[in-house]
Amino acid sequence: MEAVGLAHPVDFAGWRAGARAAVLGAVPPEDLVWLVEGEGDLFAGETLETLPAVGQPQFNVPKSFVSLAGEVILHSDPERFSLLYGLLWRLRSSPHLLEDATDPAVDRARAWAKAIHRDIHKMHAFVRFREVEAPDGRPAYISWFEPDHHIVEATGEFFRRRFTGMRWSILTPRRSSFWDGETLSYGPGADKRDVPDADRLEAYWRTYYASIFNPARLKVSAMQKEMPKKYWRNLPEAQLIDGLIRDAATRTAGMLEAEPTPRSRLAEALDRQADGGDSMKSDLLEPDLLDADAPKTLDEARAAAARCTRCDLHGPATQTVFGIGPQSAEIIFVGEQPGDKEDLAGKPFVGPAGAMLDKALKEAGIERDKAYVTNAVKHFKYEPRGKFRLHKKPDTKEISACRYWLDLEKSFLEPKIIVALGASAGQALLGRTVKIGAERGKPIAQGNEAPVFITVHPSYLLRLPDEEAKKREYARFVEDLATVKAAAGL
Ligand code: URA
Repeated sequence: MEAVGLAHPVDFAGWRAGARAAVLGAVPPEDLVWLVEGEGDLFAGETLETLPAVGQPQFNVPKSFVSLAGEVILHSDPERFSLLYGLLWRLRSSPHLLEDATDPAVDRARAWAKAIHRDIHKMHAFVRFREVEAPDGRPAYISWFEPDHHIVEATGEFFRRRFTGMRWSILTPRRSSFWDGETLSYGPGADKRDVPDADRLEAYWRTYYASIFNPARLKVSAMQKEMPKKYWRNLPEAQLIDGLIRDAATRTAGMLEAEPTPRSRLAEALDRQADGGDSMKSDLLEPDLLDADAPKTLDEARAAAARCTRCDLHGPATQTVFGIGPQSAEIIFVGEQPGDKEDLAGKPFVGPAGAMLDKALKEAGIERDKAYVTNAVKHFKYEPRGKFRLHKKPDTKEISACRYWLDLEKSFLEPKIIVALGASAGQALLGRTVKIGAERGKPIAQGNEAPVFITVHPSYLLRLPDEEAKKREYARFVEDLATVKAAAGL
């Protein structure tokens, strides 16, 4: 028996180095064990050799294997390291192994990667914060969540981007993540009983926040970023924060008191639903464990969005225009906001810009019915002019308020790529200003989420004054869509 030691449960660098050494040392999978530091001594009594480190890689593996392995290693099954090593071992003589969907090991690895995606999506959608007062008197936010797999690090960046203006901690049984306004850091897991109720607040701050909140690291500029609440109305994310606090006050108390067991029943129900199984029975839902109002299916999200009042645009608009398309879509297209026609029809891209999009999609060989089409902002923003309603660009506050829905839509789908049609969509998806000219035409990686692809909005093509430019730009747009199709593996 040979052994490879891993520093922690998701030590991918350690796994790669160990796997490389083992392959080069001709150690067959059945003779190799993987030991994670601090995780029991499963092999007590056996004689284990530790493999020497190997400097340079002397064989190559397909890129697709490396990305699959990077996901599978986040799975909670202790067999994950061996499963991956077994695949690596066989890949050297069967370079196309991963294309064989009938191979049980390939099938298992793919199913585990899918479970990871689902777990990440659930965490993105269901983490709820409650407001607590830190010892320095300023607000901070805390959440308790129980993911099924080792995904805390894989989700940290999402929460940092989404809640940049808040100081927050997300505690889970295995790991915890912290954002102090400047640095994203990770620490050990927590116990639900450690999560503060009013009495335990002090203890919590001593144990968790105080240990990671290093005043020496906090610069004045960072402090200025953590604005007092009275300034929030000017922050793009303010509308989200207010909603979260309201939800948290009524529900998180119940969530924190509940025993952990029912969570797995809920997780099972959600899994069944994600698998397209029976619709969720209401008695399986444990509303005190999550935000009871948070939509748990795409249809629930659509129904909830129909009542949205997150910003003022709902007033003058006829209705909410939510996304349309199958949940199995490999591509999500995100436009800016519904126009006049879409506002009346209640469907995205059915007016002139939609006709232009349809034409280009057809030319690029993408079936619109198989894609999911939505907008960054779900209500039509306009200025009345006589009997006309003139389109007005949504502002940053409106885009941020509506991102709640876009994030939910994304969380219920598993696209291979997300296409931003124009700058507003790019801003909603990337959380920053986007320069179309500089960033269009190539997938922009988003960690564990599907990459974002920037291109022009179809109405830009409609507005071009001269025919020559129109033709040229249309051809470029079709070319972009063809790249998208290839990136989605279609
Ligand atoms: N423009 C958009 O961005 N979205 C639509 O749905 C229609 C026009």
